[in-house]
Amino acid sequence: MADKLSSVLFVCLGNICRSPTAEAVFNGKVLQSGLNIYVDSAGTHGYHDGVKPDQRSQDVGELRGYSFVGLKCRRVDPTDFTEFEYIIAMDNENYHNLIGNCPSELQHKISLFMSHSELEEQEIPDPYYGGKGGFEYVLDLIESAADGLLETIKSRAD
Ligand code: 4NP
Repeated sequence: MADKLSSVLFVCLGNICRSPTAEAVFNGKVLQSGLNIYVDSAGTHGYHDGVKPDQRSQDVGELRGYSFVGLKCRRVDPTDFTEFEYIIAMDNENYHNLIGNCPSELQHKISLFMSHSELEEQEIPDPYYGGKGGFEYVLDLIESAADGLLETIKSRAD
C-alpha cells in the first residue's frame, strides 16, 4: 500500500451486497481516473467469510460495467484501522460498530459513505431481503457517493 496515493475500505454488515458493490464501483472509477488508490471491502460480521458477492449485486453491477472478479467476503480486522486512510460505512449501524471497535485516535478515518454524496439520503439500506429494485437503488446511491469520495481524495492530493 506504500506506493499508493490513498487507501479506502468499504464496510457493511455482511460484505456480500453493499460494500463489495462499493468496492467494484470505486475500483472502476479509480481506474478511469488514472489514480493509484488501494480499494478493499469488509463486513462487521463474518456470516459469509470467503464467499463471493451476492449474485444479485453482481448482476446489477455488471450491467453498468463494474467488475466483481476476485472479490471475496471477509470480516473487518483490527489492523484495518491502521492500514486504511478512509474507512467508509454504508449505514449508521456499521458506522457505530466501527467507531466502537476503533482506537479513538484513528476514528477520524471513519465516515458514512453518503456524507460524500450530494444526494439527501444519509444511509445505504441493506438490500439483502428485498427485490432487484433495491439492488439497483443501492447501486445508484453508491455511484453518487463514489464520485464524491473520489473528488475528496483528488482535492486532498493536489
Ligand atoms: P450487506 O447485506 O451488509 O450489504 O452485505 C447483508 C447480507 C447478508 C446479511 C445481512 C446483510 N445476512 O444477515 O445474512
